[in-house]
Amino acid sequence: MALDIVIMAAGKGTRMKSARPKVLHRLAGRSLLQHVLQAASGLNAQRTVVITGHGADQVEAAFQAPNLVFARQEPQLGTGHAVQQAVPQLHDEGTTLILNGDVPLIEPETLRKLVQACDGKSLALLTVVLPDPSGYGRVIRSGDPVGGTIEGIVEHKDASPQQRRIQEIYTGVMAAPTAQLKRWLAALKNDNAQREYYLTDVVAMAVADHVHVVASHATSETEVLGINSPAQLADLERRYQRRLADALMEAGVRLADPARIDIRGELTCGQDVEIDVGCVFEGRVTLGNNVRIASHCVIRNVSIADDAVIHSFTHIDGEAQGASVGKGSLVGPFARLRPGAELGEEVHIGNFVEVKNSTLAKGAKANHLAYLGDATVGERVNYGAGSITANYDGANKHRTVIGADVHIGSNSVLVAPITVGEGATIGAGSTVSKSAPAGQLTVVRAKAVSLAGWKRPVKAKK
Ligand code: UD1
Ligand code: MG
Repeated sequence: MALDIVIMAAGKGTRMKSARPKVLHRLAGRSLLQHVLQAASGLNAQRTVVITGHGADQVEAAFQAPNLVFARQEPQLGTGHAVQQAVPQLHDEGTTLILNGDVPLIEPETLRKLVQACDGKSLALLTVVLPDPSGYGRVIRSGDPVGGTIEGIVEHKDASPQQRRIQEIYTGVMAAPTAQLKRWLAALKNDNAQREYYLTDVVAMAVADHVHVVASHATSETEVLGINSPAQLADLERRYQRRLADALMEAGVRLADPARIDIRGELTCGQDVEIDVGCVFEGRVTLGNNVRIASHCVIRNVSIADDAVIHSFTHIDGEAQGASVGKGSLVGPFARLRPGAELGEEVHIGNFVEVKNSTLAKGAKANHLAYLGDATVGERVNYGAGSITANYDGANKHRTVIGADVHIGSNSVLVAPITVGEGATIGAGSTVSKSAPAGQLTVVRAKAVSLAGWKRPVKAKK
């Protein structure tokens, strides 16, 4: 049976006090609308219609996917009016699932159950019982307030004091038989407290048409919480992060404090991984067995192999290209790995060392204050403090190749393109612009001169 999805995302989000459309604000590194689309993606809908209005150009530019279309709602006259804009895009038969673009943590399983409950015949409402239901639309049932037949939804602003005591609320998510929904939408009126076309009025119409109205319950309050303000966004972010942290701990990862980790992407961990406080993981990060991440690291798009240790305040960003850290390597504190940094086994990268687009073979070390860009570094190389590959001539990048067992003395500049042969030593303070032969000492610096009898100038005394 055909399934269509409508996501309402035209609202202004006044309380966000932001120039950015509300559904483009980010939770765990992804926009609110992205979360909703992700949750809906498992349902194999034939078409997903996103209703845009405020900031429509920006929202429409941010998303492209097969079967995804946009319908504009200008001006915004209520949720019923919003769904009316999608009508030309909906199939004639089947089920339509209606979602809110600002309720990001809705679970795919909950949506699946709701669509099943509708089954193309009934009107299925996602409801939840809240200790404080104020502001929400209340579910009106005949007789028993929990088990009675559903008669309608009354918006908070239109509700009587007695109705306001009802704790079962409509979450804003429903699944409806498409053919009937189209008829009901066409009959909506705006004679209510807000002068809006309420989508929720279709419930009473369904009852009048003898269409069965069923409620499906959300599994948690968190999954149906909407975002209207920066405070609510931050609150939901913490709840979501806590959920991710719990899942990691469940899988055996040892977090120093589950309240002080941020995952904005996918973090995959092996066995006996330890993560200290204040770390941020972004994009795709893979940690092997026994990896230890010390406090306050920012780590993005990298694969870190077994037994590696990332010391505090290290920044790793593989960007689109990615980066890798080999087995047993030590990185940081205060190290920076950039795209194309590929560290082999047991490589040491120390404080204030930057590595970009460079490969370091097993056992290579750059421990202090150094830059390696566009370099191929052999096994066991010792790259001295303060040394730099001058890889950029102002127009082009060039490679530096350093053979195995080379010792680069402190404060050297290797002017690329250049090759330093195996086992060579570069004397400290050398600026090397020609390739250095294997096995020899190459020194490029002025000879020391000592002048006996030289006198330092002295100030004239008055
Ligand atoms: C709606 C429900 C209410 C429910 C609550 C759950 C109606 C009439 N009421 O109320 O029963 O308890 O959600 O959160 O549906 N939007 C548009 N165009 C519009 C108006 C809204 O696209 O003209 C979008 C908003 O951007 C938002 C969603 O629809 O994503 C819900 O709108 P909102 O104004 O927040 O509805 P509520 O008044 O909270
Ligand atoms: Mg409203």
